[in-house]
Amino acid sequence: MRAIKPRVFITRKPPIHVLEDLKEYFDVDTWDFEESNVPREHLLTDIEKYDGLLCLLTENVDEEVLSKGESLKVVSNLAVGFNNIDVALATQKGVMVTNTPGVLTETTADLTFALLMATSRRIIEASAILREGQWKTWSPMFLTGMDIHGSTLGIIGLGDIGAAVARRAKGFNLNLLYHNRSRKENLESELGIEYRDLPGLLKESDFVVILTPFTKETENLITINEFKLMKKTAILINTARGGIVNEEDLAKALSDGLIWGAGLDVFVEEPVPLNHPLLRLPNVVTLPHIGSASIQTRTKMWELAAKNLKEALLGNMPPNLVNKEILANK
Ligand code: DGY
Repeated sequence: MRAIKPRVFITRKPPIHVLEDLKEYFDVDTWDFEESNVPREHLLTDIEKYDGLLCLLTENVDEEVLSKGESLKVVSNLAVGFNNIDVALATQKGVMVTNTPGVLTETTADLTFALLMATSRRIIEASAILREGQWKTWSPMFLTGMDIHGSTLGIIGLGDIGAAVARRAKGFNLNLLYHNRSRKENLESELGIEYRDLPGLLKESDFVVILTPFTKETENLITINEFKLMKKTAILINTARGGIVNEEDLAKALSDGLIWGAGLDVFVEEPVPLNHPLLRLPNVVTLPHIGSASIQTRTKMWELAAKNLKEALLGNMPPNLVNKEILANK
């Protein structure tokens, strides 16, 4: 008699090699639509059948999902951020939560730097002006932006991605500041980056880059009070999570000239509604949450998320367990 395999649900279609591997061990169901989220009702109705869930940041794994998912042993998130999961409750219920750090560090740092450059040098706007036939002639102050080299970059959240952005910035001869929950003295000497309290960083930086995790403590970290501290020529870049910045205050800061520009890869509501005030401002570059979106990295994220799921269900230690405190109760 064949042993019954544990059941897993994957909320999108993984690459075939990832799917085939998981199928050797598990009875796998997938949501096969690349560009639509699994409907909440579908997840809520079916979750009771599964031992493991591999989900994306678009799925809200909250009290309702965790309570209905009585057999769940692991929730494997295809992202480094896990603010979409109620980790405290998962821990209480004995459900492992895993994420995909490391593999996306350099790719997200590349995108962060690209966004910084596109915003400061008005690249998107310039390209659109040319295509719309608005390029009349070369003129001295046409599409002038802000210099990158020699400026001061302030990084809020000096984790792996923050450090990778700082390494890129050194090549552009930027002065480096950071703010973080804890001092990173090793990085200070390696990168020549200096610690500042938040107001100090905001006052001194030409570029403020947000790379901190989204938690209760960092929600609305940047409001109108913080924008008032920034230079009028400053640029804000956010590739972390939308909710770290108060969007209404950001729109006001940009239209009132409290800061010069913003580059945003993330929004409070995603996809951002098309009537959102930030989409109507000329001095904002907006991207649809593509920080880690390279073919190589997204493939590695799938592989890592699948490995986390597999190891957890096979009774091994998954490589990226978020709620390690769960082990104390096992
Ligand atoms: C993450 O991993 O948290 C990103 O936002 C998606 O790549």
